[in-house]
Amino acid sequence: MIAAYQATCQKRVDAALDSLLNAPSPELARLYQAMRYSVMNGGKRVRPLLVYAACEALGISADKANGAACAVELIHAYSLVHDDLPAMDDDDLRRGQPTTHKAFDEACAILAGDGLQSLAFSALVDPRLSPQEPQVLLGMVQTLASAAGPAGMVGGQAIDLESVGRKLDQQALERMHRHKTGALIEASVRLGALASGHAEKDELKSLQTYAQAVGLAFQVQDDILDVESDTATLGKRQGADIARDKPTYPALLGLEAAKAYALELRDQALHALRPFDAAAEPLRELARFIVERRS
Ligand code: IPE
Ligand code: IPE
Ligand code: MG
Ligand code: MG
Ligand code: MG
Repeated sequence: MIAAYQATCQKRVDAALDSLLNAPSPELARLYQAMRYSVMNGGKRVRPLLVYAACEALGISADKANGAACAVELIHAYSLVHDDLPAMDDDDLRRGQPTTHKAFDEACAILAGDGLQSLAFSALVDPRLSPQEPQVLLGMVQTLASAAGPAGMVGGQAIDLESVGRKLDQQALERMHRHKTGALIEASVRLGALASGHAEKDELKSLQTYAQAVGLAFQVQDDILDVESDTATLGKRQGADIARDKPTYPALLGLEAAKAYALELRDQALHALRPFDAAAEPLRELARFIVERRS
């Protein structure tokens, strides 16, 4: 079921993303080519899926959420391009292909990331993709800016880099993961709910509890896969965290305890959805997928 849902959502968001990535003039061809290369390359699209599923959980058609779905994937793609740079994780493989700075060059990758970040906000307020009223859009812009910025993902990346080679306790590790990965996942769910135009306060609260658990579970599973998957399946270098002495859940707790924690977080997420009816089934499936995925 999740595979079919995923395929439908991927098609929907990929069509919208494709429409945003055309160079407006010939001298920008290379920059746009690098941006397109970084986005249209087979990502799982988990964040857009969460946007659509949250909108649908409130009984509203996911078509209203195309702007938000594009925006979170564009922020995510930019974060990966910069995360892979030599000054950060220095990786040469992403989604089964050379990283953007390898396929182009470093300056081009930095600019492509910058461009994708701005494009995310344009997509979020593009009336063809986001038919919401200005007041709703303002809340959506605030949600994305805060999740992507220094109080969210960028802050988490800063903590990550400062923590290399240091032994974090579980509280500090959790704080890092909640920023670098959790914030954008939490924003994805909230944006889907806001885009629906039908979110009550208590529903937003339940969805936030769900998203916080899923967001942390996502990075715990990412850490686990770095240990026990393989490069071909992952599409990125297996063992990169270990090689770089990154603080991760398996490094802190051991592999088995990290796996048990991921499952506990999944259960917390499912519990938070108890007030919702069958319309929240895609959200439930996504919580299961996130800890069962192999890539
Ligand atoms: C990888 O994200 C980076 C993290 C935040 C853990 P994904 O596992 O969602 O990567 P893609 O988009 O499918 O390539
Ligand atoms: C990346 O975390 C989180 C981002 C904000 C990009 P990782 O460094 O663990 O992601 P991967 O493993 O390279 O995909
Ligand atoms: Mg990193
Ligand atoms: Mg990395
Ligand atoms: Mg990782």
